Amino acid sequence: MGYAIKTEGLIKRYKDKTAVAGLTLTVNEGELIALLGVNGAGKTTTVKMLTCLTKPSEGKAEIMGRDVIKDSEEVKRLVGVSPQDTSVAENLTVKENLEFMADLYLPKEKSAKAVEKTIKAFGLEEFKDKKSKLLSGGYKRKLSIAMAIIGEPKVLFLDEPTLGLDVLARRQLWREIEALKKNMTIVLTTHYMEEAQALADRIVIMNEGRVMAIGTLEELENLTGKKGLEDVFVSIAEKMEDDESVSAPKKTEDDESVSAAGKME
Ligand SMILES: Nc1ncnc2c1ncn2[C@@H]1O[C@H](COP(=O)(O)OP(=O)(O)OP(=O)(O)O)[C@@H](O)[C@H]1O
Ligand SMILES: [Mg+2]
Repeated sequence: MGYAIKTEGLIKRYKDKTAVAGLTLTVNEGELIALLGVNGAGKTTTVKMLTCLTKPSEGKAEIMGRDVIKDSEEVKRLVGVSPQDTSVAENLTVKENLEFMADLYLPKEKSAKAVEKTIKAFGLEEFKDKKSKLLSGGYKRKLSIAMAIIGEPKVLFLDEPTLGLDVLARRQLWREIEALKKNMTIVLTTHYMEEAQALADRIVIMNEGRVMAIGTLEELENLTGKKGLEDVFVSIAEKMEDDESVSAPKKTEDDESVSAAGKME
């Protein structure tokens, strides 16, 4: 044991698309993993399967030793997720959104205190009685992350948490994520290489629903002979394209339009 996440041959098929094509991965407790990959690589689908938002078609996945299909009720209590399309209730205030999540996950006597503490930790005091729809994009994301952690999850999933944030807000969120790192296992998806480089213990590079490479930055640098994550990523991604043109020339474009939306089935 000791694994926060363990998957074996995890597959998600949609009608005409295999979004995740056999993911085998272990994540240690307390580790921060960055999931990288081009648009449509299967990152969000992976997050959804591991948080019981969508059911795997095949394969196995466990969170802290609990099966995502058989023990889904327990798994839902163990995980927190800040989805790619932030899921704040627009017509509730910041405080009400947090109360809703706290009531869902925490015993009654802890809930009010947790809401206060979280509002402070995320610098949301001046907005706490504002309707969430009035927040800027960055603050909406902050709220979404605050909602994901208020239930004290063991495993936290952040799907592109800093998309669209300004440089300062991003740096501040990095510090908040750093602080969370001590207490929980974190899976972070991002398109920002410097973000993965700054935060991740290990990096997973996905393509077409498969893991193409996994390791620390140093290991991936050694593997590719490149320096820095951006060059490592480009080298692995371009190699994949070369391989595809030899072995799988049939790739079609027609499913791609769905990928940015990332909706459930
Ligand atoms: N509900 C769905 N029905 C059909 N196809 C889907 C569905 N959800 C995702 N897909 C497809 O599965 C593939 C993987 O999508 P996913 O959202 O997991 O990618 P991603 O790596 O998160 O991409 P991005 O970086 O754009 O967020 C894409 O080709 C997408 O179009
Ligand atoms: Mg995604």
